[in-house]
Amino acid sequence: MQAMFEAIGISPTVAIGAALVALVGILATLSLKSGSSSSASGLDSVGADPKARARRSSSASDGGDGVPLMIFFGSETGTAEEYSKNLALEAPRHGFKPHVVDLEHFVPEMLTGELEDCDDETKARVAPMVAESGPLAVFLMATCGEGDVTNNARNFVTWITGDDGEKPTTSKLRYTVFGLGNTGYEHYNEAAKITQAALEGAGASIVVKMGLGDDDGDLESDFADWQKTIWAPLRRAVAAELGLEEGTDDAEEDGPACALPVKSVAPFKVVEVPPPAGVTAADTERDDLVGGRADEAHAASGGIAAASPAGGGWLDSEPMRCLTRRQLMAMGRGADPVRVRWFQAVPARVSARREVRGKTSLGGSTAHVELDVGAAGLTYGTADDAAVLPENPAEAVDAMCAHLGLDAAQWFTLEGDAIAPAIARAEAARGAGGAIEDPAHATLKPGERPPPFPVPCTVGRALQRYCDLGGLPSKALAGQMAHWAEKEDERARLARLVSTEGRSEWDEFVRTPRRSVLELFQAFPSVRPPLAELLHVLPPLKPREYTIASSPLAHPGSMHLAVSVLNEPKPPAPGSADAPGRRLAGVCSTFLAGGTSGATPAPEGAVVRVYVRKSTFKMPESTETPIVMVGPGTGLAPMRAFCQEREARAAAGEALGEALLFFGCRREEEDYIYRDELEAWAASGVISDLHLAFSRQGAEKVYVQHRLREQGAKVWALLSEQGAHVYVCGATAMGKDVTAALAGIAADHGGMSAAEATAYVAKLEKDHRLVQELWS
Ligand SMILES: Cc1cc2nc3c(=O)[nH]c(=O)nc-3n(C[C@H](O)[C@H](O)[C@H](O)COP(=O)(O)OP(=O)(O)OC[C@H]3O[C@@H](n4cnc5c(N)ncnc54)[C@H](O)[C@@H]3O)c2cc1C
Ligand SMILES: Cc1cc2nc3c(=O)[nH]c(=O)nc-3n(C[C@H](O)[C@H](O)[C@H](O)COP(=O)(O)O)c2cc1C
Repeated sequence: MQAMFEAIGISPTVAIGAALVALVGILATLSLKSGSSSSASGLDSVGADPKARARRSSSASDGGDGVPLMIFFGSETGTAEEYSKNLALEAPRHGFKPHVVDLEHFVPEMLTGELEDCDDETKARVAPMVAESGPLAVFLMATCGEGDVTNNARNFVTWITGDDGEKPTTSKLRYTVFGLGNTGYEHYNEAAKITQAALEGAGASIVVKMGLGDDDGDLESDFADWQKTIWAPLRRAVAAELGLEEGTDDAEEDGPACALPVKSVAPFKVVEVPPPAGVTAADTERDDLVGGRADEAHAASGGIAAASPAGGGWLDSEPMRCLTRRQLMAMGRGADPVRVRWFQAVPARVSARREVRGKTSLGGSTAHVELDVGAAGLTYGTADDAAVLPENPAEAVDAMCAHLGLDAAQWFTLEGDAIAPAIARAEAARGAGGAIEDPAHATLKPGERPPPFPVPCTVGRALQRYCDLGGLPSKALAGQMAHWAEKEDERARLARLVSTEGRSEWDEFVRTPRRSVLELFQAFPSVRPPLAELLHVLPPLKPREYTIASSPLAHPGSMHLAVSVLNEPKPPAPGSADAPGRRLAGVCSTFLAGGTSGATPAPEGAVVRVYVRKSTFKMPESTETPIVMVGPGTGLAPMRAFCQEREARAAAGEALGEALLFFGCRREEEDYIYRDELEAWAASGVISDLHLAFSRQGAEKVYVQHRLREQGAKVWALLSEQGAHVYVCGATAMGKDVTAALAGIAADHGGMSAAEATAYVAKLEKDHRLVQELWS
């Protein structure tokens, strides 16, 4: 198990400061001005609870900085991680000292509280996290894939479920769980449910009922509602340590409903630096850095071609041209799960790009994008997933800089007590000639943290690559913005919007018109945080996944993506100057493929940063095993990869079994993507049966599940007699309908009852003969 690393986004000083604020007990009111709302420690007193003050001052055991509370997160795309940090900001208000732990870094002693037999290092790390009366923990668990546990939580779940052979005992643990899921998926919040059941099985006591949040609705509000219910029971669980008298009724201790979240202070400062040696003033113009002259010059000098995961080569152009990929990875090791990718992704040149729809005049575009991954040494398996690090359009970066008066070309680095050593070691390694021989360069020491993104960097590049400007803002962000509002009316409005009472106003002002982070800043012009605080509070720009639409057997060194370009009108935004023409241009699909929003797409020849994630889509070992592929829209991507692999293996002499492909789209002439290729494969036998469903072509809507049912007898014969594998890719709603269609086929052609048919399909899935990858 890896060493524990606390991923909390606030420094201990901040957490202690927050507790002190609770002690001082300055109550939240909307009349607080920003100038007067921050304590010397940089913390805001809004919402401090006088009752907590009384309790805390009577507590002898917490040393004045709260009862330890562990906040574990299992997160794939960063939401659970973000919520953990928000919860940690609130904890001191309620008498707790939070320890946020990425489940990747969990050690069993944190939950067993048995520290006697562990080594000194573990003891020193874990002891401060365990309350006197035993461990107290909150688990925030996201579900990914098809009811899967997130990657960073796998070791933990294996341990707690006893899947590694030994059932653990955690009888001293008091805990609660919140699940982050989506009701669109068949296995709703499975990871949270598994966690709760396993903890119960291990003898831990649940102190607050598990909460389940639905990303198909309003996940942030689900979490806020649940969060309100946890503090009183958590406090009761450690009543003695908090000095709570028995029977104390502290049910309404959640503070004023309109309280702002505690101000989160950046654990780093921004220090302006000159451009790194060899980078000219012209290079630092952002436009030149995006696939422009700097990239070109760098590639010409062999930089990108020399990059290799094995170490040695250069990662990138621009600031990182002075760091090797391994140095960067060392610098980023221990970074938050989402951010670590910024250090680890490799650059890949866009070698081809073309439209694959027949007609785009009705709106809509699907781009075929080819990435030259061979040069960076990146390999992948047929139908794995590519994760692309998108970049914000230049317009958005310029608008943010103009709005906040920032100089996009200014170079800076980040300094902080916990960050500096990681940067210093990476730089020391550079001095030593590139390769990191000394493992000390690659390991964070306790208390150290990597910079949140690679530095040095320009302001423009930081906003372009690392900060989400176009996404839907969270209330947590709006709450932080309120702390920086110079005008009282703006501060009050933001406070209202994030309050429980202001929920419908938030929906009207932000969710319904799909206002972006940038637009929210523009709506509150007096919100002008310093750069360090801006970089700290802006949400990270997350990687986007694409199911790889090629097989390395057919295209070694090249990776193909089928990218549906998201570009649709936004409903009018009240109070927005540009209300009529606002559009939602998907950040990554626009970046990769181009759009109609005026954004700057990654041009052919540009460099896109990418990494590979293993997917569950694996072809049967033998090409003779029949396959049934259901992939409407861009769900066709992995099926195209499979067809390429079958074609290549057939050319090498392997025999092909049957392959049914069900493809669907709106109209034959409009969005029947890769038509020529599919028809050629159908003619050559790579696809034995091609079934098409055009939903808007005839009088009745026809979807792939209808075609599947029509072919029920054949599908059943392949499934029941020949051990066929079924692959489904695309929208979640379609996945549900296809699963139901398969059960229908089992009932109709296998003579099963409805329950038996459902169980049959579940068994197919369990045996990995039904594999789904659903994403929207
Ligand atoms: C495993 C997997 C495989 C995938 N494979 C493919 C594939 O092969 N091809 C493909 O085209 N896609 C694929 N996707 C989807 C892809 O990852 C992206 O989600 C998609 O391209 C949209 O990303 P974007 O950055 O363009 O849009 P984003 O900018 O991320 O916007 C996407 C959505 O976010 C929300 N949103 C964004 N901004 C706002 C706002 N201001 N207000 C309200 N809501 C907002 C909206 O719901 C919007 O529809 C896959 C996804 C997964 C998880
Ligand atoms: C590809 C993908 C698969 C998902 N699978 C499930 C699922 O099987 N069950 C579920 O309840 N939610 C599922 N979700 C929803 C996520 O759990 C939810 O969006 C959550 O907020 C993600 O949290 P994270 O950002 O911390 O990973 C899925 C989301 C995606 C993008």
